[in-house]
Amino acid sequence: MSSPGASGPLHQVSHPLLQHHLTRLRNQLTQPIEFRNLIRRVAVLLAYEATKDLETSPLPIETPLVATEGMALKQSVGLVPILRAGLGMVDAVLDLIPQAEVWHLGLYRDEKTARPVEYYKKLPHSEPVDVALVLDPMLATGGSASAAVSTLRAWGVPKIKLLTVIASEEGIAAVHAQDSEVQIFVTTVDPELNDQKFIVPGLGDAGDRIFNTFKQRD
Ligand code: PRP
Repeated sequence: MSSPGASGPLHQVSHPLLQHHLTRLRNQLTQPIEFRNLIRRVAVLLAYEATKDLETSPLPIETPLVATEGMALKQSVGLVPILRAGLGMVDAVLDLIPQAEVWHLGLYRDEKTARPVEYYKKLPHSEPVDVALVLDPMLATGGSASAAVSTLRAWGVPKIKLLTVIASEEGIAAVHAQDSEVQIFVTTVDPELNDQKFIVPGLGDAGDRIFNTFKQRD
């Protein structure tokens, strides 16, 4: 199910493979090596959906037999992983769109306030990409995604798509309250956030599970 049409704001992508992989991701017994692979597989399926409306232009070519006309992507695409967890999605999507530009945004959520703190941003002054695919497995309060969207709008990006594995209803509403044009592609929408602003049932902390950094920090 993808609603409501290719240009609509929320696309809940329902597919047996996604449901299967999501269940493995949610399972606390799933170890980081498998978790990383699952994130990559889900990222590919989300990116497939999210890129269905990319524009193409005719391209004359010659096959070994005849001259014919093919198509080439017309728009420039930027992948924008939100560090750290978004890094787990980059390589898989880059395999699909090898010519994409990759622009990293460093944001972490302050543990006390749950507000995003920016620690890395280095966008060029030159022309922005036509389409930005923001990559982050989790959309909880929506603070980090909203900050990323603001940064990309300030750069001048006309079309922004957010690819996320699990979103909360609150997070989706927050992103769309700030910018109703952002398209969100998600495997599932979980109903609530707990007291620490973690998505429930969720899958825990995606960054820690990808990078195997569960150890209690000082
Ligand atoms: C997580 C997640 C998102 C953000 C979601 O990152 O990957 O970036 O929190 O929460 P929000 O919607 O309430 O902003 P985290 O801050 O844990 O950083 P990490 O990726 O480095 O683990």
